[in-house]
Amino acid sequence: MVQSQIYRYMFTTSGIFGFYLPPANYQRRVLKQLTRRIEGAIRDPDEDDISGPLMEKMAHLSTLEDPSPLETAEAKSVLTYILPSTTETVLPNAVFIEECPSLVASGGNTGLRTWAACLHLATYLATEAKHLVLGKSVLELGAGRGLLSIICAGPLSAAYVLATDGDRHVHETITRNVNLNPHLARKPGRQNPLDARVLEWDSSAPLGSLLPSKGGNVLYDTILGADITYDPDSLEPLASTLSGLAELCPTANIVIAATIRNVDTFDIFLAHCLEQGLSVYDIDFRCPPFELQEGLFHSLDPPIRIVRIKKEG
Ligand SMILES: C[S@@+](CC[C@H](N)C(=O)[O-])C[C@H]1O[C@@H](n2cnc3c(N)ncnc32)[C@H](O)[C@@H]1O
Repeated sequence: MVQSQIYRYMFTTSGIFGFYLPPANYQRRVLKQLTRRIEGAIRDPDEDDISGPLMEKMAHLSTLEDPSPLETAEAKSVLTYILPSTTETVLPNAVFIEECPSLVASGGNTGLRTWAACLHLATYLATEAKHLVLGKSVLELGAGRGLLSIICAGPLSAAYVLATDGDRHVHETITRNVNLNPHLARKPGRQNPLDARVLEWDSSAPLGSLLPSKGGNVLYDTILGADITYDPDSLEPLASTLSGLAELCPTANIVIAATIRNVDTFDIFLAHCLEQGLSVYDIDFRCPPFELQEGLFHSLDPPIRIVRIKKEG
């Protein structure tokens, strides 16, 4: 019974999370560990054994050749991200994203995979700060593959989300990922809940043109960014863009999640914020360690800071 559930849920496309199975070499690694554990639990070898379907799957996976390290790095897969559920709600919780999970950067583009800061910020929003998104207009900077924006527009029920990135393919990337998530399909007669546009951080960025129209006024309630403070060269234009947005949307909550790989780099960001009249406050979010997480699994090493940014005066 347990073995047939393992087979069905984890190794067939009819399982609950199995619309998109992980790459074959990953499935093989997982199945090897599982079969070892099942074998260890067998009390009576005459009665119990590894089930036929699991054996067949293992035999099939073993015949496949391993991809080269380069093929592994460049391989695109559809990853299934499960949101943690909270005591008061169980969110519609699977989000599918096509990405290159092993690729740090290609051609200077770091947005080809989803980063831990994105998973951390999404965990914060889904567990402690749903009010920042529910029914709100949300703008994301440096959206990469779009997971955070898609979670906001889908499970967290934002009224509208604009995902932006400096990468000129952002629209097609995010549209492709939106199409993998049927729960995001546009409802008849409703505004498309998620758009994507190019926004390169720059003091001359045309921020006004990003604003959605909302009852005659234009404003975002929440401005988000995950892992966008890593490149010393882009910190000044980023702070300037944040300052421009804070002026256009004076009541917006600006929340950034920063992976602290290098304290000096983050200090440079803080200094540029100060120059722009922006104050930066840490949000005290105690995310459980990896082994106790219930979804959006991510490492907290290097540490991730979530900060709120406000324009003073
Ligand atoms: C490390 S990735 C993070 C992607 C996503 N937020 C995540 O956490 O998975 C940084 C993103 O910022 C974007 N980016 C970097 N420099 C930028 C700039 N000057 N203007 C706009 N976007 C930029 C990159 O294209 C990339 O998608």
